Amino acid sequence: MKISVLGTGYVGLVTGASFASLGHDVICVDIDQNKINKINDGKSPFFEPKLDDLLLTVVKNKKLKATNNLNDALEHSELTFIAVGTPSTPAGIDLAQIKSAAKMVGTYLKTSNRYHVVVVKSTVVPGTTESIIKEELETSSGKKIGAFGLCMNPEFLREGCAVDDFLNPDRIVIGSLDEKSKSIMNQLYSGFSCPVVNTNPTNAEFIKYSTNTLLATLISFSNEIATLCENIPGADADTVMKGLYLDQRLTTIDSNKIRKNPSIVSYLYPGPGYGGSCFPKDLFALRLHAKNLNINTPLLDSVHEVNETRPKKAVQLLEKKLGNLTGKTIAVLGLAFKQDTDDVRMSPSIAIIKLLLDRGANVKAYDPLVHSLSPETFAKNIQYTNEISECLKGANAACIITPWKEFKDADWNFLISNMSQPILFDMRNILIQNNLSKNIDLIRIGKI
Ligand code: UDX
Repeated sequence: MKISVLGTGYVGLVTGASFASLGHDVICVDIDQNKINKINDGKSPFFEPKLDDLLLTVVKNKKLKATNNLNDALEHSELTFIAVGTPSTPAGIDLAQIKSAAKMVGTYLKTSNRYHVVVVKSTVVPGTTESIIKEELETSSGKKIGAFGLCMNPEFLREGCAVDDFLNPDRIVIGSLDEKSKSIMNQLYSGFSCPVVNTNPTNAEFIKYSTNTLLATLISFSNEIATLCENIPGADADTVMKGLYLDQRLTTIDSNKIRKNPSIVSYLYPGPGYGGSCFPKDLFALRLHAKNLNINTPLLDSVHEVNETRPKKAVQLLEKKLGNLTGKTIAVLGLAFKQDTDDVRMSPSIAIIKLLLDRGANVKAYDPLVHSLSPETFAKNIQYTNEISECLKGANAACIITPWKEFKDADWNFLISNMSQPILFDMRNILIQNNLSKNIDLIRIGKI
């Protein structure tokens, strides 16, 4: 199929590159010329494992190109994904980019005689496609749905494994308004072997929100269990959670009698709280949407509140061990919101560093991919380092905030000798306690 994709962020570019790798002809549209040049050179403008390799192949094979010429892209495609940003503002998600994209597409549709399917990929609150986006398209095109197609097709990919997630999805959700676009979308995804949910756009939008808010709920649940364990002598969240996973509703046993946890269990780990571009934003947007409908969401409100307390609780655990943090040097390990990405949006590391600086601590930082944070985030108070050992040098405590494999596999028994005090705070509970020498003073989440 001939596809255009508006917006080359994580969702747009991974969608475009993946469809191109499946043999479709893809044109990616963006307003940023730097991004366009990079993509046309077969390089991703952001770090995402496997994406560079994929892009290089599809650009070389002429299956994908990037342009800023929207009309040309629309003219040469039969289906357009809108995957522009929907950033969070205090008033809810900002629909300016998606409205402007819909208006431009509608203006093109006015002059075109061909049937074209418009697909919303951006995350928008339930009801948006069928109201605001439909209206914008119909007004600017002067045509009604049916003369063109409109679908909502949410994306469930995770940063850090976005390409694999896109190409091996657990489900495909297609919210359509007319039979023709429904049939074209089902044809587009016909090579995928997972279940397809065909529904209306509003349900499609809600499936995305309910999925993300459930996962955030599991994380806050785990964090609340950890807080309780930190206050109950003898309790250890690691053991409690491991026992919980064995519930047969959370563990499957295969034909060889090997226990396996479905991946939902990977959201039942306590830590410094969830971050990233989706969970905090989606939870906020859905709560606000509910508020506008005069509906209370006490559970979702608590999920957010629990998450907000996590950085503070982490710093309190550190203070319990170190006392007053003024003048103490803290090595922060990990700036990205999770491993295998350089994305720092809503990263718990940022909130924790802010609290450490407020308390007068000196902060050194190391992340395998993020080499500094924007000066607007933290003036000049952080010393960025190029390797773990340099970061630990002279530190009174080291805090693992991002669960990078490099931190899990590091030789801590050796590294700890670089520090002023051998205090190691494993905020992701990734280290195997038995492998650590006795002189390491280990702080873990969910254990006094
Ligand atoms: C998420 C959804 O998983 C994905 O389906 C959706 O399309 C976008 O939002 P992503 O933000 O890339 O993806 O990251 P994910 O791996 O889901 O982790 C989200 C946050 O939760 C991270 O900050 C992670 O560190 C945190 N987390 C995860 C925990 O704190 N504890 C856990 O047990 C699991």
